[in-house]
Amino acid sequence: MLPEKKQILVVDDEANLRRVLAAQLSRDGYEVHTAEDGEAGLAFLKEHHIDLVLTDLRMPKVDGMDLLRASLRDDPSRPVVMITAYGTVDNAVEALKTGAFDYITKPADQDEVRMVVKKALRTRDLERADATRDTRDLSTLATRPELTRFGIIGESQAIQDLYAILERVADTPTTVLIAGESGTGKELVARALHDNSSRRERPFIKVNCAAIPKDLMESELFGYERGAFTGAVGSKPGRFELASGGTLFLDEIGEIPNEMQVKLLRVLQESEFERVGGIKTIRVDVRLVAATNRDLKREIAAGTFREDLFYRLNVVPITLPALRERKSDIPHLAAHFIAKFNARLKKNVEGIEGETLERLTSYEWPGNIRELENVIERAVLFADGARLRVEDLPEDVRIGRPQAAVSAALSPAGAAQDAGSQGNGPDSGSGAAAGGSPDKRGTEGLKEQVKAAMSKLERDLIERALQQTGGNVTHAARLLKISRKGLQLKMKELNLRERDPD
Ligand SMILES: Nc1ncnc2c1ncn2[C@@H]1O[C@H](COP(=O)(O)OP(=O)(O)OP(=O)(O)O)[C@@H](O)[C@H]1O
Ligand SMILES: [Mg+2]
Repeated sequence: MLPEKKQILVVDDEANLRRVLAAQLSRDGYEVHTAEDGEAGLAFLKEHHIDLVLTDLRMPKVDGMDLLRASLRDDPSRPVVMITAYGTVDNAVEALKTGAFDYITKPADQDEVRMVVKKALRTRDLERADATRDTRDLSTLATRPELTRFGIIGESQAIQDLYAILERVADTPTTVLIAGESGTGKELVARALHDNSSRRERPFIKVNCAAIPKDLMESELFGYERGAFTGAVGSKPGRFELASGGTLFLDEIGEIPNEMQVKLLRVLQESEFERVGGIKTIRVDVRLVAATNRDLKREIAAGTFREDLFYRLNVVPITLPALRERKSDIPHLAAHFIAKFNARLKKNVEGIEGETLERLTSYEWPGNIRELENVIERAVLFADGARLRVEDLPEDVRIGRPQAAVSAALSPAGAAQDAGSQGNGPDSGSGAAAGGSPDKRGTEGLKEQVKAAMSKLERDLIERALQQTGGNVTHAARLLKISRKGLQLKMKELNLRERDPD
């Protein structure tokens, strides 16, 4: 059976500290493994699935920084938390810049360890659910240059307007508020603002406001001084300080609690703040970009979002249209994603059949560009021919039905555009759709039913393992204790999509 517990690797050369941490974390419900130095830690990571690494900084042979770098190379989304001796905070900040999730100062305080570990695992889960992709390699693609600017693709008027705004505001310190449904490219735009400004060499720090527990929000943003609260054994800079000279991206800004809205407003007005428990006033030069998929005007009316903060953030508003509102971009985006996944999955898909493109354009795309990206990835993976065929598309897209969960959120007017689904409910079985998959369930014998139940169980377990490893097949195979090849065969058999670890 699958290990339900999250797997933590503790790496420290002090046997005592290893023991204490392992005992505490096991009590907190994790499965803990230990290694006595970086070299042993690295060897362990190669052989096992690990969700989080907790490592000492200074160790013989391979030290904590090298282990951090190796772990990030192997799996960039796996959080690494550093343990540092008191008074070596400079090294810890260096580790944060390299990509460590956080650090804890020795002697490790129980509450702090618990808090940091929990936060790290939670953030990673949320980020994986987000499945945000690296967009940097977009520029290497052979799409027509006028269709790609700032790494953003499109020929629709909406995208042309977006280019014009980006051109004007990218290299200014002005605050930008990006609104749009999930998957419309808000983060892509936030990065484009940063990458096309003179701040591009400085940090781009993203804060997912929905992922941070309410009571940790303030210390996360503004940092804290030693003794500010239980667990604050040392002092620490917040995200505002880390973003100094660069850009701070507050994602899902609609989720920040009311008290924080007040504090944020003050920083925006006065460009200064104090760390939690601190008295020194800190000034930083940070460009702020915020994003939300909520209707903040409605939140203001409901009293959950402060109007004054809204106006401070909304200096330059950018609203990203839903994909169904700019269907002319679909062919270009599809071509772009085919090229991307050809390279990543080592495939050679050359194009799309006319009928397939028609289905792609008539579908309503409740998940917007991210959903299109996923659909193309899967289609490229399973494609046998040179062109994507209708059979390569998932059923929802093939028959033009938005997924049940999201269809309710769609405006009824939106669906009318698609002639194929007009008048018929999803299950009314119009003549065209009926030929596809005959349903024989009523007549199945015991054998067939057992087989179906087995497949379902296998599928569930594999999906869970893939989810736990962020889609990394090698790691999922280790978790399921089968070979990678075996898992790939099973996945193909069950029609599960595979994603390249990147
Ligand atoms: N115009 C575009 N051209 C190319 N790729 C795009 C475009 N818009 C979005 N994408 C891609 O679609 C995916 C989703 O975009 P992104 O993560 O920026 O969406 P989001 O609005 O932040 O979504 P969420 O609200 O769910 O966080 C990313 O992989 C992004 O690179
Ligand atoms: Mg996003």
